[in-house]
Parts: sequence; C-alpha cells; structure tokens
Amino acid sequence: MSIILAIESSCDDTSAAVLQNDRILSNIVASQKVHEQYGGVVPELASRAHQQNIIPVVDAAIKTAGISKKDLDAIAFTRGPGLLGSLLVGVSFAKSFSQALGIPIIDVNHLHAHVLSHFIKENDESVVPKFPFICLLVSGGHTQIILLRDYFDMEILGSTIDDAAGEAVDKAAKIMNLGYPGGPHIDRLAKDGNPQAFKFATPQIKDYDYSFSGIKTSFLYFLRDNLAENPNFIEENKNDLCASIQHCIVSFLLKKLHKAMKDTGVKQVAIAGGVSANSYLRSQLEEMGRKNRWDVFIPKFQFCTDNAAMVGIAAYFKYLNKDFSDISLPPYTRM
Ligand code: KG4
Ligand code: ZN
Repeated sequence: MSIILAIESSCDDTSAAVLQNDRILSNIVASQKVHEQYGGVVPELASRAHQQNIIPVVDAAIKTAGISKKDLDAIAFTRGPGLLGSLLVGVSFAKSFSQALGIPIIDVNHLHAHVLSHFIKENDESVVPKFPFICLLVSGGHTQIILLRDYFDMEILGSTIDDAAGEAVDKAAKIMNLGYPGGPHIDRLAKDGNPQAFKFATPQIKDYDYSFSGIKTSFLYFLRDNLAENPNFIEENKNDLCASIQHCIVSFLLKKLHKAMKDTGVKQVAIAGGVSANSYLRSQLEEMGRKNRWDVFIPKFQFCTDNAAMVGIAAYFKYLNKDFSDISLPPYTRM
C-alpha cells in the first residue's frame, strides 16, 4: 500500500493530489486568473502565483484526503516539459518537503501523466483501458498519437510538425477576441453554430502527423477578407465561425486517429490533454467508436486539463518499480 502526494506546476495551474495506490483521495487545482488580461500565460507571473499557491494547495490536498503528512510514502512532481520558473517551484517544494519527511521523490513526465490519467480510479467501478491502446494526446503544447504497450512503453506514431491543436484553437479564439484560453469559449459558442457553414482546408501531411499553422492562417485571411466587406462579420457569424473551425480541427484530429487505429488493428482508443475536454471531439469520437466497435476512453473533465492526480497515477506505477529520483535532479523544459 502506498500514499503518494503529487504536485503539478508545469504551466499556469498549481495542483496537488493524494493517491492511495491507484485510488484518488483528493485533487486540488488553483487556476491562475492573472494571465487572462494578457491573452496568454506570462511565465514570470505564473512562477510567482505558483509560489503563493503551492503551500495552501498542498495543505488542502492533504486535509481533503483525510490523512496526515506523516502518512505519506513518497512525493511526486512534474519534472517537465513546461515553463522553467513554474517547474522550479514544484520541483523545489517536492524536494524540500521530502527531505523534511525523510521519504523518496518521484519525477514524472507531464505528457506521460496526461496519457496515464486513464488509470486513475475513483471507486471500485472505475474501468481502465487494457494494453495495447492508442491515445490521442491533445494539449496546449502537444498533439501526438501514441501507442501504449505498457505503462511506460509508449511509441509516438505521429505528432504535429508545428502548432499544437490547443494552440490552433486558442489562436482562432484570439483572432475573434474571445478571451484566453480560447478552447472553452469556442466549445461553448459552437454549440449554437453550424459546423458546415464555412469550410477551411486541412493540409496534406504524411502518415499520422499533423500541422495546424496553415489552418490558423487560412482562418485569419478568411476573416480579414470578410471583414473588409462587412465590419460586423465576426459578430454576426460568431457561432457558425466557432462551429466551423472546431469542426475543421476535430475532423482532422480524428481522421489521423482513425488511420492509426485501422493500420495497427488496435481496438481501444483514448483521448487526453486539455483539448480532450472539447464536447465536439468527445461526441465525434464516441460516434466513431460505436461505428468501428472500439472501446472508447474519455477522461472526466477534471482529468483533461492540468491536474496533479494524473501526476500521482504516473508516479504510482514508478513507485511499484521503486523507480525513485535523485535529489539533484533538475527540471526540464523539454522532454
Ligand atoms: O493540457 P492543458 O491543460 O495544458 C497543457 O499541458 O498545454 O491544455 C490546455 C489547452 C488550451 O489550449 C485550452 O484552450 C484547451 O486545452 N482546452 C480546450 C477546452 N478546454 C481546454 N479546447 C477545446 N475545447 C475545450 N472545452
Ligand atoms: Zn498539460
């Protein structure tokens, strides 16, 4: 039996969670509102906010779990990829807390954590994927199709060659002045729009790879041309624009995922990362899964965007292998 405290501080959310084996006891997330006024994450402000949040967030995670810090067996933290200043707060906190308690630390790759979030159990009924399965990882910084043969045996079948899907969504939202992060705004407004109203071309790109920068540019030019004729074009077509660009991005994501599933013959599919909170992606994948008789795994909303529970589950599998980290280990911005 193990009780692990996990810390996530790679970008702009400060989070702490407690897991008993693979079972979640608490998962606290403090989102940083300070970045909204700048239309994107300001790294220096993120580090400062992490410093303010980390102790109250860890304290809340321990209290909510109903344990005492003396019960902890290990402390896990996100080593990277992420913003250096943000990572440093979590890494330094985890190291010093572990020294004070005399327990080991476990470093976790943020992307592994997103993918392994599917193994978090909330109760005895929780159903988790079996190996092998394919996971589409769609976050603000990454877009990858990954084949998992075991917890840490992952093969990247395809990736984006430029922007991530989340970046494309956020940039489209920014062009329309919808606020940051743009994903949730597009998702909400698209619900009352027609996904076929406007067509945007997707690039021809090899195998299971993606490219999103061209989609963003064609969206920008399309709006510029239409705004020249009608200055109210965005306002009058907001819902249709959101639904159409969302349809373009989601269809492209699923087209490559479908190809990977067919070519490998794998029958279980999952999505992970912030963009997996998108309701259109979730419903389209469910439908594709039904048609193809795949088992589909869609994370609960609280496990899509950045959270420490996913760091805790990845750490649990390392804990079972006694795969602990050295205290001198530095954070990595790229992994
Ligand atoms: O995984 P995540 O929280 O952070 C990174 O590791 O990057 O992903 C953040 C991304 C942002 O681009 C955000 O706009 C997007 O996830 N996102 C969404 C939705 N919720 C968050 N995109 C589309 N629809 C959503 N509902
Ligand atoms: Zn993330």
